[in-house]
Parts: sequence; structure tokens; C-alpha cells
Amino acid sequence: MRRLFLVALLLCLASAAQPPAAPAQTTPRAASLMVRAGRLEAAARRDLRTAGRERRLARAAAKKAPRRSARRHRSRAARYRKRARSRRKHAASLRRRAAALSQVKAVAASAPPRRAPVPLGTALDWRVARTDPALADAFLRHFDQMTPENELKMYALQPLRGAYSFASADRMVDWARAHGKRVRGHALVYGSQLPAWLTARDWTRDELLEVMRDHIQAVMTHFRGRVTEWDVVNEGVVDWGDGLTPNIWSQVIGPDYVDYAFRFAHEADPGAKLFYNDWGIELPDHPRTVAVRKLVSGLKSRGVPIDGVGIQDHVTNRYNATGPQVAETLRRFAAMGLDVAITEMDVQTDSGGSRADQLEAQRHAFAGSAWACRMEPRCTSFTSWGISDRYSWIETPGMAPLMFDDALEPKPAFADVEDWIKKP
Ligand code: G3I
Repeated sequence: MRRLFLVALLLCLASAAQPPAAPAQTTPRAASLMVRAGRLEAAARRDLRTAGRERRLARAAAKKAPRRSARRHRSRAARYRKRARSRRKHAASLRRRAAALSQVKAVAASAPPRRAPVPLGTALDWRVARTDPALADAFLRHFDQMTPENELKMYALQPLRGAYSFASADRMVDWARAHGKRVRGHALVYGSQLPAWLTARDWTRDELLEVMRDHIQAVMTHFRGRVTEWDVVNEGVVDWGDGLTPNIWSQVIGPDYVDYAFRFAHEADPGAKLFYNDWGIELPDHPRTVAVRKLVSGLKSRGVPIDGVGIQDHVTNRYNATGPQVAETLRRFAAMGLDVAITEMDVQTDSGGSRADQLEAQRHAFAGSAWACRMEPRCTSFTSWGISDRYSWIETPGMAPLMFDDALEPKPAFADVEDWIKKP
């Protein structure tokens, strides 16, 4: 959750510096939000008038005995003022959402005709897929691509040094491919979920480079032709701002571990698409996004074989990027000659208001990123980090971050994502 707080803080800071909204074209939804905002503001004005009356009554009563009626009027005045503030805050939130909705509509209305549909992907936990047929069925019915949630990480594939364990991942990958689904590999070099034999001892730079090369060679050779796109390095940039995050790879090998990872991956499978993948890089001018652009620009300037950047898009109703902002982020990476992908999207419903309001805000966040991916010719896929709230990695009660609820019923977000990503 620390990561999410960081993203929240950074998104909040960065989004405050965002350019003014595009010219608005009101959509029916935006219009209804504006009407509700107007009603709330009128109610807030009534509250303030009542509070004023109560304050006058309090002053008059203060001149007479007993004084407790003055106290009663003052406390009522305070309650009305507090309610007025709350109503105004809610109205402002509705107006912001209406404006953002109109902005997407405005940009979408002026956008070029849609390009070909984009693969819709999701992360899948193999144990869950095997034990919950309804979830497996939902995957087969609605999704084109699978990212094994944990099964292709180093701790799972090389639990003992040199002793690779491919059986479970093979069954998972072959099951998906047997049903015509693409498989996205995640993640070859990552600072987390490492096997104990790797973290339990010290290594020299050369020894760890050999470990990295052996792992990448073995895994990519094993899955060659079946897994054709990989997150080669995952979450390499430091939480806040510039530079590489401290992990075993950066600390023992040094900053060029990223170069080596991509070069080893290209040697192992020259036909695979090689991605750098990270979180908190949805906003175009966000410090992390700037740091990732700097990182990949350096890789390309050194001739390192990198093909794309994965934008994880783990966001919330309160802290996310609008469609146009994500579109600009994707455009800037594409302008560097890179493919892009939304690789792990989920949207926590941490906003106020009714459940319907929360699901509407979640729908809006998902739709914005889906629209941005569809509009970007170099966006190669759109992936949510799971199907149903029941199995999300986010365990905070009530956050409900995915497009299907606990009962595997589609939420409002799914219809929009399916429309923007898959409809011709
Ligand atoms: O497999 C063991 C199981 O044997 C044991 O009984 C159980 C006890 O807790 O743990 C199981 O391992 C868990 C693993 O998921 C497999 O389910 C780990 O505890 C748990 O920490 C791990 O969480 C994963 C997390 O990455 C680890 O950082 C989440 O499922 C996974 O969704 C999440 O995915 C990451 C991406 O890889 C990178 N981007 C961020 C994303 C969310 O954190």
C-alpha cells in the first residue's frame, strides 16, 4: 500500500500541474452530474442561510437568560455550516468528473477513426483458474491474452539454483494457448519474489550476471514460440523521482543490470518483444514517468534491444490519470520508437458518494485508459490485473478494483473497456 500512497501523492501533485481541460462537449452522463452538482450547491446555499439565521438568533438570545438557548442556536449554526461545506465539496467533485467526462468525449469526438481492436488481457492465478471453473470460463469468454500473475517469476521457475520447475507454468501456458489466447511473460528480472537461494548469500557482480544470464536463457528458451512478449525488467525505477530502485540486481551488478537483462533476453529469443514494465507512470509529466523515459532513452541510445514499455496503471478513483493524460504518456513513449501496453490496470473504489457513484468513477478511469490504448497505434494490448474482485491482490475491504465483482458479474467498467478495446 506504500506504493499506492506514493502514487497517490505523486499523481495528486503532478495532476495539479496538468494543462487546462480540453474544450468540453457535455455527454448525457456529464450533464446529469452537473445537474446534481447544481442541486447540491443550492442546498449548500440554503444551509448557509439557515446558519446565518441561527447565528442571529444566538446573538439575540445571548442578551437574555437563560444562555443555553444561545448555545443551542450556535451549535445548530455550526452544524448547518459543516453540512454546507460537505455539500459544496461533493458538488465540486461531481463537477470535476463531469468536466473529465466531457474532456474524454471532446477528445474522442475529435479523434481519428478507430484502429484495429487490441487484445484484452488479464492476470490469472493458475491455482484459482483450476479450482474456480466460473472464473476460468470468464477468462475464456471475455479475454484474448493471459499474464500469469506469479507463475513465471523467478521464485516459481527456479526454486533451486539450476533446478528449473516448468511443469505448472507449462500447463498454464499450454491451456491458454490451446484456447487461442496470447501469453504475456511476467517478469524475468524483478527485485521481488526472488528464490531464497538467491537472496540468502552474497554475490560478486560477475557471479550475479551469470545467474541472470542463465535464468533468462533457460526460461526464454523453454517458452520460445509460446510466450512471445516479456516484461524483461519490472519496476526498476526508484519510488520517488530519478535513478534505479535498490534491489539485488542494481546493488550488486550496478545500473547497467538493465542493459544486460535486455541483451541476454534478445540473445535467448531474438523474436520476442522485450518490455520494461513499471507502476506510477500514467501521467505524462509525473516524476516517475520522466525517470522511465530517461531510462529507456538511455537504453536505446546504447543500442540495447528494447521494444516497449508497460504502464501498469494501478490506480484508484481518487488518484488516476484521465484518458487524455494516459494518451499523452503513451504518445511520448511511442514517439521514442517504442511499443506501449497497459499491463496491470485496476482501479480501487476509494472515492466517496454512493456505490453507484463509486462504480461510475471506476468506469470512467478504466474507460479513459482503454480509450487511450485504442487510440495509440503502438499500444499492443490492454490488461487488467485480474478478473474478479474476489481474487484481487488488493485485499483492502471495499476497494473492489476489478471489472467483475465477487459474484463474477460485470461492473459498469467492463462494458466500456470491451467497447473501446475490442469493438471494431
Ligand atoms: O505461493 C505462496 C503459497 O505457497 C503460500 O502458502 C502463501 C502464503 O502467503 O504465499 C504464496 O505466495 C504469494 C504469491 O503472491 C502467490 O500467490 C505471496 O505471499 C504474495 O505476496 C504474492 O503476491 C503477489 C505480489 O505481486 C507479490 O509482490 C500478487 O499475487 C501479485 O498480484 C502481485 O503482482 C505484482 C506484479 O507482479 C508487479 N506489479 C505489481 C503487482 C501487484 O503488486
